[in-house]
Amino acid sequence: MNKIQSINLSKSFFIDGIEIEVLNKINISIKRGDLVALSGRSGAGKSTLLQVLASLDTPSSGLIKYDDTSIESLNNSELSSLRLKNFGFVYQFHHLLEDLTVMENVLIPLEILNRSTNKSEVLNIIDEVGLSHRLNHHPWRLSGGEKQRVAIARALINKPNFIFLDEPTGNLDEDNAEIIQKLLLDISRKYNIALITATHDSNFIRNFDKIYKIQDMNLTEA
Ligand SMILES: Nc1ncnc2c1ncn2[C@@H]1O[C@H](COP(=O)(O)OP(=O)(O)OP(=O)(O)O)[C@@H](O)[C@H]1O
Ligand SMILES: [Mg+2]
Repeated sequence: MNKIQSINLSKSFFIDGIEIEVLNKINISIKRGDLVALSGRSGAGKSTLLQVLASLDTPSSGLIKYDDTSIESLNNSELSSLRLKNFGFVYQFHHLLEDLTVMENVLIPLEILNRSTNKSEVLNIIDEVGLSHRLNHHPWRLSGGEKQRVAIARALINKPNFIFLDEPTGNLDEDNAEIIQKLLLDISRKYNIALITATHDSNFIRNFDKIYKIQDMNLTEA
């Protein structure tokens, strides 16, 4: 997959029959290698837009297209295999499985894909995030920054073209945030992976090619 596009994408939630409009006719196009930041106040709709662009949630109206395919034409299993092949996800909280080692956590996406593993490839990716010496440790023995590096390795293991990040440095101190930011930017450049990032972090935002702000349900380029 080389392109993700939304066309007049709107999203509302209904709570007790009351409509909460979050996004109104959003048009955005993201190509491989793009660095896209989504900013906006808390509750503006950043996470919602990420979820819908990644097809983890459905639009209320409008279209999402992956290359030239509208996602409406795909069934759930086609969509989920497409996500597993093309997307990586990194969240504010790492969502690692505590009973598994670093290595095992990183391998989860491949297990779901039923793909055999080439051990040296896996080791390369773990080396890329600087955790070769922690392969067999469990998450509880790692620092916050290290856990986030495991989450990044897990997001890379399927060789995605797009990584969706929701406040990836939101839970880290300044020094660790900087290390994680640099790692993400290096990885994006090296592998030509698009980063689509919801963030409040102005240091991080500065490095992005396209900086958008969500305000009053609309997306504007900053
Ligand atoms: N599943 C849901 N059901 C109902 N309302 C929702 C749901 N998800 C999000 N919302 C509402 O949509 C709006 C946007 O939420 P969203 O999480 O996208 O904001 P955000 O910009 O990511 O905020 P933050 O910076 O706090 O993470 C909020 O008003 C929120 O309450
Ligand atoms: Mg959010």
